[in-house]
Amino acid sequence: MKAADAIRPLLRVHQVREFTDAPVEPAALDAIADAARWSGSSANSQPWRFIVIRDAETIRKLSEANPPSTRSLATATAALAIVLSQEKGAAVSNAYDEGRAAERILIAASLLDLGAGIAWLGADARPQVGELLGLPEGRFVRTLVAIGHPTEKAKGPKSAPGAARLPRSETVFSERWSD
Ligand SMILES: Cc1cc2nc3c(=O)[nH]c(=O)nc-3n(C[C@H](O)[C@H](O)[C@H](O)COP(=O)(O)O)c2cc1C
Repeated sequence: MKAADAIRPLLRVHQVREFTDAPVEPAALDAIADAARWSGSSANSQPWRFIVIRDAETIRKLSEANPPSTRSLATATAALAIVLSQEKGAAVSNAYDEGRAAERILIAASLLDLGAGIAWLGADARPQVGELLGLPEGRFVRTLVAIGHPTEKAKGPKSAPGAARLPRSETVFSERWSD
């Protein structure tokens, strides 16, 4: 298989913000959570805990927690919350690891023919969401991932062909920086 064809499933991963009413199979959510918890992290610290959310009322409340960032939760039928701890010294490292897990969640959903979208909670919205999800003291959620079956529209391209990312010539250099 050509290298470009082998990585095609990764290039297909994109942000989905509109979902149908179809529920997500519990086994699919288990598989996505496994993909997330197997992510690599600094010194294998696994700074995360994941909350799988299927309750429609909770997901609706999450969608209202920090609009427009959280708008993808308005139609999502499931969500995954990435819970971190508030230890100050590890904030950058934990955020890096959180991003690795979040992207894996998007990839896993895409491989299962589902869609997923990252929604960030600003600092003001976090205490309210912490209470909603029953977080203990010292834990917070910044990243919610909306999950569901994408609508036909959400499956389609959002940009003109070739326009979704900067061209390779502007982003990838060989051997030395190049203007
Ligand atoms: C760190 C990070 C935070 C993001 N926060 C949000 C968010 O709060 N709400 C949202 O709808 N999308 C959010 N996104 C999704 C980006 O807007 C999206 O990845 C970008 O527009 C590219 O879209 P595409 O992957 O569909 O091409 C976030 C992405 C990242 C990496």
